[in-house]
Amino acid sequence: MNKAAEWIDLTGKVAHVTGGARGIGRGISRALAMAGAKVMVSDLRLEDAQAVATEIGGQAMALDVTDRAAVDTAMAATKSRLGGLDILVNNAGVYIGYGGPVRSITDEMWKTLWSVNVDGVFYCCRAAASIMIDQGKGGRIINVSSTQAVSPGVGVTYDGSKAAVMQITKALALELAQYGINVNALAPGPTWVREGVPPKTGGQPPNRSGDPLADTVADRIARLPVGHWADPMEQGKAVVFLASSMSDFVTGIYLPVDGGWLTL
Ligand SMILES: NC(=O)c1ccc[n+]([C@@H]2O[C@H](COP(=O)([O-])OP(=O)(O)OC[C@H]3O[C@@H](n4cnc5c(N)ncnc54)[C@H](O)[C@@H]3O)[C@@H](O)[C@H]2O)c1
Repeated sequence: MNKAAEWIDLTGKVAHVTGGARGIGRGISRALAMAGAKVMVSDLRLEDAQAVATEIGGQAMALDVTDRAAVDTAMAATKSRLGGLDILVNNAGVYIGYGGPVRSITDEMWKTLWSVNVDGVFYCCRAAASIMIDQGKGGRIINVSSTQAVSPGVGVTYDGSKAAVMQITKALALELAQYGINVNALAPGPTWVREGVPPKTGGQPPNRSGDPLADTVADRIARLPVGHWADPMEQGKAVVFLASSMSDFVTGIYLPVDGGWLTL
C-alpha cells in the first residue's frame, strides 16, 4: 500500500453513524466501510439500518438520539460489540415539516427539532467523548451541520439548530484536543436523498411558490455552481477525510461540501 493510501485507510477503526439508515447517513456509512472501518449503523428505523449494515458488512442497532440513556447504552454497546469506538458521526437530523414563517412555528415544532438536531448531538458527543478519553488513543467526532448554519433559508428552527451544531463542534474541539480527539463539522449543501441520480440544477429559473424562504432556497439551488445536487457518497468521502489520518491536524473546522453554495 502506498503512503497516501495508508493515510486514508481506516482498517481497525470502529465508527458509529447515527441516522445511518438512509440518505446522507447511508452514504457516510458506506464510505467509512469502503475505507476499512467497522461501522455501527444506528437509526430510529432498525430494519432500514440493518439493510445498510448488511450491505456494508457492519452492524445495526435501534437508537433514538433524543433518549439520553439510550445514547449512553448505544455508545457503550458499540464498544463492546465492535471492540472500541474511534469515530462518531452525528448525522441524525430532521428538517421536513419544521420550516415556515416564524409565527407559524409551534412550541412543539421548535422543541422536537432541537431535541434531535441539538440535544441528540450533545448526548452522542458526551457519551462517545467519555469512551474515547478512557480508551486513551484519541478519536474523531464529526457533526453534520449544514450550509444553513451560516446561510439561512430553511427557517429559524432548522437554521438555528445547525448553527448551534457548528459552535458545539468548535467548543468541543478546543476542549478535546488535549486527548487527541479531533472534532469537526460537515456542512452539506443540497444532497439528493431520494431514489435515482442527483438532479441537475441551473437553466430554467425555478417556479416561484410565493413563500420567501422556500423561494430563497430554490433560487440558490437553481444557481448552484457545480450544476447538480450532491450524491450522499460525496458527503461520505468528506467524512472519510475527516475520520482519517489525512486530517490529523484539522480540528474545529466547519467544512462546506456544498457545490459552491456558500459562494452565492
Ligand atoms: N439532504 C440535504 O440536502 C442536507 C443538507 C444539509 C444538511 N443535511 C443534514 O444531513 C443529515 C442527514 O440528512 P438527510 O437528508 O440524509 O435526512 P433523511 O431524512 O434522509 O435521513 C435522516 C435519518 O435520520 C434518522 N433520524 C431522524 N430522527 C432520528 C432520531 N431521533 N434518532 C435517530 N435517528 C433519527 C431518520 O430515521 C433517517 O434515517 C441531517 O442532519 C440533515 O440536517 C442534509
